[in-house]
Amino acid sequence: MATIVVGTAELAVQKQFGEHLSRIYKEEAIRRGYDFTYSIRTYGCQLNESDSEKMSGILCSLAFVPDHSDNPDIVIYNTCSIRENARDRLFGNLGLVKEMKKRNPSLIVAVCGCMMKQRENIDKIQKSYPFVDLIFGPQDIHRLPELIHRLRFEEKKVCDVSDTDYMADDMDLPINRSRTFRALVPIMFGCNNFCTYCVVPYTRGRERSRPFDLIMKEISDLALGGYKEILLLGQNVNSYGRDLKDAPDFADLLEAVANTKNLSRVRYMTSHPKDLSDHLIDIVAKYPVIEKHLHLPLQSGSDRILEAMNRHYTKEQYLHTARLFRERIPHGTITTDIIVGFPGENEEDFQETLNVMQEVRFDSAFTFQYSVRPGTPAADMDDQISKEVVTERFSRLLDLQNSHSYESNLLAVGETEEILIEGSSATASHILTGRTNNNRLVNFTLPDRSILPDGSLLENGMHVDGDKLEGSLAYVKITGARPYSLEGQLENFIYDQ
Ligand code: SAH
Ligand code: SF4
Ligand code: F3S
Repeated sequence: MATIVVGTAELAVQKQFGEHLSRIYKEEAIRRGYDFTYSIRTYGCQLNESDSEKMSGILCSLAFVPDHSDNPDIVIYNTCSIRENARDRLFGNLGLVKEMKKRNPSLIVAVCGCMMKQRENIDKIQKSYPFVDLIFGPQDIHRLPELIHRLRFEEKKVCDVSDTDYMADDMDLPINRSRTFRALVPIMFGCNNFCTYCVVPYTRGRERSRPFDLIMKEISDLALGGYKEILLLGQNVNSYGRDLKDAPDFADLLEAVANTKNLSRVRYMTSHPKDLSDHLIDIVAKYPVIEKHLHLPLQSGSDRILEAMNRHYTKEQYLHTARLFRERIPHGTITTDIIVGFPGENEEDFQETLNVMQEVRFDSAFTFQYSVRPGTPAADMDDQISKEVVTERFSRLLDLQNSHSYESNLLAVGETEEILIEGSSATASHILTGRTNNNRLVNFTLPDRSILPDGSLLENGMHVDGDKLEGSLAYVKITGARPYSLEGQLENFIYDQ
């Protein structure tokens, strides 16, 4: 499969479709007296979220505005197929669209994302959900103007999923970012690793790194535009640049980003244990602005299973990296992904996973039951593990991880931590929420009298506007721990950001 970087000529064509549509939608909006609206539902990882931000930007350029009344003119389902439950969620939610379409017969229903790279999902949609108007793939995001144009003027239904590993990577694609303080910045697309359980290499294609200069230009523009936190994204950030000529490696890129003026935090994910260099850990240790958190998926602690998963590292190699990180960055946190019940996993293998957990004491973990993905090598392996065994092992794993997460959070109690504020807590508006520099979630209150960063005075009982404080840094005294979050009280805001 070829990798094609979408050139300016292709993007210029899309721009023309876009300009035409934007004129039409603007005129119609005036005629009908209100704007055209869109809603995007995102089911996948942060790379999917980043694609949604691009589609949102494109739709705004077509004169659409975000929908707030659950009655949009276009709804886009940006799907994920990493596990069966992500797939189930889509089909569950698509059932509800029928009602939406009854209310608004001209509603455009679009489905895109990783699931659309698997023919059986498209077949199922076409057969069981005939009201879906538009189907496209994760490599077709930049073609949205053309696809909507075709739907409007030429075809009743459009199903167009590219087979080519396009990289629509240029600064002209509009992006409507969902946060005002944190920016998602993909540094690469696709994956070459072919872990035997995983669909990503099939849905996202081969690994392709964005040019260093483009990434740096985007980040310095974001910093100038007031963004405080940059999240560098890739399925395996440590192999950044390998497909480019004379490109710096990931450690160099991270160092360059850390040296960008006006940023408060730089995060990155995901690291692959086989490619993470000791040098990277030195860079993380050296720069205060780089988050002291390593997300390092273990998947399994058994060498036999790691080999069957095609992960290319051993338990000892994994432990070397984890030990080095703990040693050089004592205040740092390590989080992980673990799969339980991969084909052939026996009790001994599972114990090996628990042993690694006991040694590393992960500060937090995403734990998954193995989910058969059609078309992947693991789907055809003998010795698939029964549901009962998987559930039983999963519950033991979860108990252990919960105790480690809680133990890790307890260690933070009594400390004063630098928090990047993310807004008000979802449950109570007088409680603010944010993250420590090592990525712990903290819910905290303000003292009875506080001076806010804009100079205004907040007195007891007054409403705290979390949105206004998003992106501010503050020192917070940690007063309590729960398994998945910390509690605290603000000491003071940090002004010289
Ligand atoms: N690129 C990243 C993670 C991508 S997917 C990496 O390699 O670490 C996020 C996580 O989903 C994976 O780390 C893995 O733990 C989990 N996952 C992927 N495929 C899965 C499957 N078929 N069943 C269960 N979990 C899976
Ligand atoms: Fe999937 Fe493995 Fe690639 Fe991660 S590294 S996206 S788990 S194939
Ligand atoms: Fe899902 Fe695709 Fe991301 S399968 S995890 S949305 S790359």
